[in-house]
Amino acid sequence: MEGKRGFELTKSLCKEYKGFFKIGAAVDAEDIFRYQGILQQHFNSITSENDMKFEKIHPERGRFAWDASDKLVEYATRSGKYMRGHTLLWHEQMPGWICDENTDILTREDTLKVMEEHISEIVSRYKGRVNCWDVVNEVIDNDDGFLRKTRWFDIIGEDYIDKAFHYAREADPKAQLFLNEFNGNQQEKQERICTLVERLKKKRVPIHGIGIQGHYSIAYPKMEEVRAEIERYARLGLQIHITELDVSLFEYSDRRPHLGVDVFERQKRQEEMYYRLFEVYRQYSDVVTNVTLWGVADDDTWLDDFPVKGRKDAPLLFDVDLKPKAALYAVMEFGGEQYGTAS
Ligand code: GLA
Repeated sequence: MEGKRGFELTKSLCKEYKGFFKIGAAVDAEDIFRYQGILQQHFNSITSENDMKFEKIHPERGRFAWDASDKLVEYATRSGKYMRGHTLLWHEQMPGWICDENTDILTREDTLKVMEEHISEIVSRYKGRVNCWDVVNEVIDNDDGFLRKTRWFDIIGEDYIDKAFHYAREADPKAQLFLNEFNGNQQEKQERICTLVERLKKKRVPIHGIGIQGHYSIAYPKMEEVRAEIERYARLGLQIHITELDVSLFEYSDRRPHLGVDVFERQKRQEEMYYRLFEVYRQYSDVVTNVTLWGVADDDTWLDDFPVKGRKDAPLLFDVDLKPKAALYAVMEFGGEQYGTAS
């Protein structure tokens, strides 16, 4: 595949996008060595995939496990990459000492204290080196309510979100602070996200951006939805990061155990989806300042276990052998006439 379409892959994805936005990848410290060539050539931003998640970085009250996150931040600093910290508060990958039924953290006061310790310790340790934080992740309810019923919400109440942003701001006044969400291309969810952000802004909570996760598939989303979501958030006066982009070869409802004979056709659709997404992102590069993929290559993707455990997927721009895929060429090809204009 190398050399296809008239250029050698001596080109660099992030250099092609200079002047538009940064190009990122989610990695853990243990991945850096394996991916170092690709990271060096193609990416100028990295996100911590798991190393900064609560259960990993703060496994016991007052004890922080810094090894992996330190390595990641040192790597980002040394290689001059923008660093996205992910994530200070999320309802998953939480440690037992907070969530078990035997937990002794039960009052609003104590829960706020734990939250403050967590956020202040982490953000101040990486002050000036982690450029932005997903302060809260997936806090909007997908079904009945407005905010998701998490441990933080149940004990502290709705203002836990305000407090989280304030604690982060105090610990590093220059870091950009984000709310990160999925499915915001769907109308109802998008309205909830905007309502929350408007409330926060009214209360002068320091929020600078919205993260659009972007876990997509070859059949979803429609480009008009992608545009509408970006335009809606831009009207709130915040910057936008695409934080977790991947394009599954399976439609979400497809629960077959593996790909069928139509794999080639699916790869073509993936290539086209990537082309169209990046075409739209480029059109909004005044507000979209970072586009990050949720992984580097198809050898390691969370989609191998979701929504079907153990089913191989291939949602990224590099293949299982870390070689560039057609989708990579597609996003580096501006105005590629074979895809037509995005609808
Ligand atoms: C969510 C989280 C990420 C990651 C992905 C998939 O989107 O924000 O940290 O865990 O799920 O694994």
